[in-house]
Amino acid sequence: MQHYNIAIDGPSGAGKSTLARRLAKRLGCMYIDTGALYRTIALSMLRQNAQTDAEITQALSGLTVNMEHIGGEQHVFANGEDVTALIRTSEVSMAASRVSAVPAVRAFLLDLQRSLAQTHSVVMDGRDIGTVVLPQADVKIYLTASAEKRAYRRFLELEEKNPGAQTLESVLADVIRRDEQDMNREIAPLRQADDAVPVDTSDADLDESEQMLLRVCEEKLGL
Ligand code: DC
Repeated sequence: MQHYNIAIDGPSGAGKSTLARRLAKRLGCMYIDTGALYRTIALSMLRQNAQTDAEITQALSGLTVNMEHIGGEQHVFANGEDVTALIRTSEVSMAASRVSAVPAVRAFLLDLQRSLAQTHSVVMDGRDIGTVVLPQADVKIYLTASAEKRAYRRFLELEEKNPGAQTLESVLADVIRRDEQDMNREIAPLRQADDAVPVDTSDADLDESEQMLLRVCEEKLGL
């Protein structure tokens, strides 16, 4: 079977994880949500109250992060504990954005991400997959949508889990703050790779977006 890697980058709430998961299923390859790896580190740092770059770097030496697919879903582990259900809170989102700017954290996850892509055909989503982690990826997609649309989608997702715990305004403010942090950090900032195909999902539903991504992949991979 042909081995290939598909990199999907973009800001939070553009639909990366849902679409990357669907695409992986369609193409029969492994979906890797790299944000979940940063979130796993963030949770661990919150628990230890590691805040400065030095404290975070130091705490990494006592941490092991793994991922495994169980029943078709990606699970993430911090020192052997399955933390998958604990990493989707707003608090962990903000902390993930923060820890992901620490150079030692990025270096810590680089080998894991690359070795997964070497041993499997993957659809990997994140912020720097096409630019840093897999610069040789066969397909690179930069998935985006307006901040308002992304905030609205995130709001609906959060409301489903925790009704009334947030307002659309607070979610939009978080989205803008996270974009700002992710795009302006010094190391591996979120940006479109020169050879990435931009896909804007502002006015497309999930099925339409999936079709757009599928077309890009089919064309690039000659399927
Ligand atoms: O995709 P997400 O919202 O689960 O990502 C959480 C945070 O992790 C996000 O603010 C940026 C960071 N991240 C990153 O810096 N690089 C990646 N490859 C994936 C995520």
